Amino acid sequence: MTSSDAKTQALRTVVVPAAGLGTRFLPATKTVPKELLPVVETPGIELIAREAIAAGADHLAIITAPKKSGVMGHFDTDQELEATLESRGKDEQLRRVRGVNGLIKAIPVEQEKPLGLGHAISLAEDVLGDDEDCFAVMLPDDLVLPFGVMEKMAEIRKKHGGTVLCAFEVPREDVFNYGVFDVEDSGEEHVKCVKGMVEKPAVEDAPSNFVATGRYLLDRAVFDALRRTKPGKGGEIQITDAIELMIQEGHPVHILVHEGVRHDLGNPGGYVRACVDFALRNDTYGPGLRRWLEQRIKEDDDKSLVSGLGLPS
Ligand code: UTP
Repeated sequence: MTSSDAKTQALRTVVVPAAGLGTRFLPATKTVPKELLPVVETPGIELIAREAIAAGADHLAIITAPKKSGVMGHFDTDQELEATLESRGKDEQLRRVRGVNGLIKAIPVEQEKPLGLGHAISLAEDVLGDDEDCFAVMLPDDLVLPFGVMEKMAEIRKKHGGTVLCAFEVPREDVFNYGVFDVEDSGEEHVKCVKGMVEKPAVEDAPSNFVATGRYLLDRAVFDALRRTKPGKGGEIQITDAIELMIQEGHPVHILVHEGVRHDLGNPGGYVRACVDFALRNDTYGPGLRRWLEQRIKEDDDKSLVSGLGLPS
């Protein structure tokens, strides 16, 4: 087996849950799925598709909701648009529109009601080939940069088996916002064994400051655990509860402690930061934005900007 065969064997299917209500982003998400909100010009769903391609996957199982058909539409070829761009010599725009067309197969899986992330993941079982013993989950509202995290997670699974999750270290006082891991050292740098998981604990009860983020390399055994997982917080089936069940039953779970950048696109504050970060790194928009930001922050420091924008609240 060549090394690229081994990579493909390790990861073929990426499940992309995109059926949530996006309530933190209302009213925008009343009509626009949050997965289509652009980070500069590229929607989150396309950034995830590119990450999946880079990780060697050959298809995406996109969990969609009845009212969010635009998410799948992003992967459709628009021949009329492409022909118009071509005839007008808009090569750069054409390149962007063709972005992920044909590079990866996107399979829609409908989740009729938003019954939770665990429920969304459970719907992907039929998309997996019979010989696939693991699959990835990438949340499109979570950017984990630079790309390459899933490949590192696949290496950990090769060595330890079981399930591998991605974690970030956050300041202790912020843990109440996240799923928090109870861990012990594995003897390897950036890898820890997981003994348990707690969803959004009080700061004083948190077992560590390693928190879950939106990248999972799940053993197929998770489907059986999800079938036995009762609805938890908010009446939803939580993936953390299924993983906790697997840990209790002796299934090996490890985390990769990622040291790069993470942007939470699921809330307006995190989304704005991601846009600024990407725009600052962009050759076209970066230099002008940097100058404007420096000036804008200086105005605040000088307290010379006394009035707001006059927008009604
Ligand atoms: P989130 O909780 O971040 O997304 O779920 P949400 O529910 O859309 O957002 P809020 O909390 O109302 O603002 C994480 C990911 O899981 C998907 C979401 O689309 C998001 O990508 N999800 C969540 C589903 O696919 N189905 C669900 O039932 C719940």
